[in-house]
Amino acid sequence: MCGIVGYAGSVGNAKDIIIDGLKRLEYRGYDSSGVALICNGKLEVRKRVGRIANLEELIKGETFDSKVGIGHTRWATHGAPSDANSHPHTSPDGSIAVVHNGIIENYVELKEWLIKEHGITFRSEVDTEVIVHLISVFFEGNLEDAVFKAIAMLRGAFSIGVVCKNDPDKVIGFRRNAPMIAGIGKGCNFIASDIPAILKHVREIYLIENNEMVVITKDDIKIYDMDRNEMHRDIFHVTWDAESAEKGGYEHFMLKEIHEQPKGLYDTLHRRLDENDMIKLDGINLTKEHLENFNKIYIVACGTAYHAGLVGKFTIEKMAHIPVEVEVASEFRYRDPFVDDKTLFIAVSQSGETSDTLEALREAKRKGARVLSVVNVVGSSVARESDDVFYTWAGPEIAVASTKAYTTQLMSMYIIALYMGITKGTIDKAYYEEFIKDLKAIPEKAKAALATEPSLQVFARELYKNEHVFFIGRGPDAGVSYEGSLKLKEISYINSFAIAAGELKHGTIALIEKDTVVVALATQDKLYEKMLSNIQEVKARGAYVIGLAKEGNDKIEKQADKVIYIPECRDELTPLLSVIPLQILAYYIAKERGCDIDKPKNLAKSVTVE
Ligand code: M6R
Repeated sequence: MCGIVGYAGSVGNAKDIIIDGLKRLEYRGYDSSGVALICNGKLEVRKRVGRIANLEELIKGETFDSKVGIGHTRWATHGAPSDANSHPHTSPDGSIAVVHNGIIENYVELKEWLIKEHGITFRSEVDTEVIVHLISVFFEGNLEDAVFKAIAMLRGAFSIGVVCKNDPDKVIGFRRNAPMIAGIGKGCNFIASDIPAILKHVREIYLIENNEMVVITKDDIKIYDMDRNEMHRDIFHVTWDAESAEKGGYEHFMLKEIHEQPKGLYDTLHRRLDENDMIKLDGINLTKEHLENFNKIYIVACGTAYHAGLVGKFTIEKMAHIPVEVEVASEFRYRDPFVDDKTLFIAVSQSGETSDTLEALREAKRKGARVLSVVNVVGSSVARESDDVFYTWAGPEIAVASTKAYTTQLMSMYIIALYMGITKGTIDKAYYEEFIKDLKAIPEKAKAALATEPSLQVFARELYKNEHVFFIGRGPDAGVSYEGSLKLKEISYINSFAIAAGELKHGTIALIEKDTVVVALATQDKLYEKMLSNIQEVKARGAYVIGLAKEGNDKIEKQADKVIYIPECRDELTPLLSVIPLQILAYYIAKERGCDIDKPKNLAKSVTVE
């Protein structure tokens, strides 16, 4: 959460480059933004509550002759969004500025110490302010020294960017359990929280490791560990095209990313198939012996990634014959779960930076589990700390509401399950081949599922005023219901609730009354009749039912008020298709309600705090 950009260079104006970078990081937080620029020996700081557009409005008309600076877009943790709490924060004499992503856990004691021992007056409520005061207290002419001394006193997970008018050619970054990269330009260099911020300018980056300082000037990048040893780092080449992080003619990133799903599904599958359609898990060392050793699998994740795990459980258990538990990361890490060296821990994360998932992974590793991660962002923390990594090929996902990351995570689950089954011998070759054939048909079928868009637009116009929506389903459909419900609530602010359809009658059905909207997923052939009965139950209480079924299964039309069809496919694979109309429905309902779809209130794309 929060986005940082730092620039040192002779190419262009630091203000424009930093603001452009911040706009591309706005998905990380958008409560306020600010910049600190070194201009002709002075440090100019401008910051404003609200979107980056507010900051642009504030500084329009001002010209800053600047080649070095830092910027920040905030997702508030300590202190409400306000001008005073916005970053950058500055030292009392206005010579040093700091931007920060993360949390300083011991800021209260540091604040007391700074007040008592150094007579500092605090001007904001944010934890970040202690960092700049510490640096200023320790500054004796060398900024690196002062930052190292300050860092040594900080506890928590954070990354920072620092500039100082008395050391005016450099930007210092530091990373501890919050993302940071350095971009290698020609006559300019960058630091940033994520690649899209600087992709327009550079395609070669260094991945900064935990507890490392990075110092950029226009001609140089140096990386140091905490003992101040200079570190060598291989260059990482970014393979995305710059357009994949742009809206490409769509009104919102979310809609664009929904439409990118056929490609993401195709890429995720085909990158893992050899010319004989056998799964090749390059970079993953899970042998038959390893798989036979596991007596338990945990899939641990948050939000949408957790929902992908709920569906993955069905296929992995079925194919690998190993019991699978799926758990939200924030619960897993604090309940002392039973994990040992016979446990496979699968972490699922789009960003690879989600703090809860990362900490759960570390806990599992400490207890001896082998860690396989399913991650979208290459080189992210989750990927780096795992024994084996399965990368999804969704491409950059910018909208806060996750769409293509989910379907590519699902695709990964099927591939992992098939690999386990064929390697262990718990599925046979004929079953494997049939399943692969069906998987290969999915990208085209996903295109067909996208064709529901015009009718869903019409439904959205009819439904957008409802304040409560229920999602029900059975088996894998229950998992997809959770995801459909999350999509709707996070972008439209409608109170939506998902429940396994059979569980409805044990309490929740009390909430169903005349015209309550119920979205009923009925894509599982063997559960179809049961779902029709569940639809009857809610219809009997007056519900307005939108059914979702496979083409050809049209008995549902007798019970539901509206029906959405997805292409025919085997039961196990319907989640790859059924979620698409639910994403589209959520999108158009949010649009009808005038919501800020790519940046929903109170949320951020990458949740790097607990
Ligand atoms: O980056 P991650 O996949 O680890 O993120 C996990 C959740 O924060 C994320 O899926 C969140 O629930 C999305 N906003 C849902 O659309």
